[in-house]
Amino acid sequence: MGDLEPHRIIRLERDAVVVLDQRRLPDAEVELRCETPEDVARAIHALAVRGAPAIGIAAAYGLALAARRGDDLDAAYAVLAGSRPTAVNLRWALDEMRPDPTPARAARIHDDEVDRCRRMARHAATLVPTAARVLTHCNAGALATGGYGTAVGAIRAAWEQGLVEHVWVDETRPLLQGARLTAWELDQLGIPHTVLVDAAAGALMARGRVDLVVTGADRIAGNGDTANKIGTYALGVLAARHAVPLVVVAPTTTLDPSLESGDGIPIEERDPAEVTARFPAVNPAFDVTPAELVHAIVTEEGVHRPPYTESLPRQLSRARP
Ligand code: MRU
Repeated sequence: MGDLEPHRIIRLERDAVVVLDQRRLPDAEVELRCETPEDVARAIHALAVRGAPAIGIAAAYGLALAARRGDDLDAAYAVLAGSRPTAVNLRWALDEMRPDPTPARAARIHDDEVDRCRRMARHAATLVPTAARVLTHCNAGALATGGYGTAVGAIRAAWEQGLVEHVWVDETRPLLQGARLTAWELDQLGIPHTVLVDAAAGALMARGRVDLVVTGADRIAGNGDTANKIGTYALGVLAARHAVPLVVVAPTTTLDPSLESGDGIPIEERDPAEVTARFPAVNPAFDVTPAELVHAIVTEEGVHRPPYTESLPRQLSRARP
């Protein structure tokens, strides 16, 4: 019950990629039809579809749509790849599609990502203590992955094992992915949760009310430095101060072993008007949490512990043919 079906989140129809418009949630469940690769790129940039694995899946369907339309595939690749810079899943999915830009290949990428989520959730649940009060940031649930979720998938698997007492949901300024999307998903799953403003996380930890922080990731460098939604770095510092483990849950499609450290991760700067239209504003969408603040990284292959240069998989996933 409460399961958000993968095809409701993103699917390819005869003449369009159709996404559940995440900008309208939780108030309205409205679909957005993208009839060209440019439409798909715009939907990704505008966060109608968002979350690292989900934008890779949307781009994969976008390239299949381009092939079906007889579009110039190099141009379609470029416009889709340029839609957002930080999540490496986008480029990974497009590169997987290039030799075989068919609907079947894109659907396989989608299925595989959901399958990875289920596998990593089982591994991550082993890190959740009994009666855990778990804090999460942004949305790393089914909406962000095309089904099931990474951090929220881990919480869900642990909840099903009776391990989770409560979930603290960071609001996640400025676009409220936590307050709008994670809270909506947890509500549908029947998992008890409370939304807090991002700045309240430290006070909750200081009072001993958080046992574990679990987040997703947009790109993980070879040394374990992790890019995720802006505010994750601050959570990592707070978690270390209060001896609360920060666990990152992400598929191998989020790993970027070509980068030695997080210094090379491109950080998206978004429109300052998302923060305030009245005064000058800065709006970095992501930050990098240094590996030393990350207790464990969980992929579908298992639980990886420091030093990450040795424990992270170097061999990236391939879409099954
Ligand atoms: O800007 P967004 O909403 O795409 O940012 C998403 C995140 O930061 C998620 O935590 C990350 O993509 C992991 S999704 C499983």
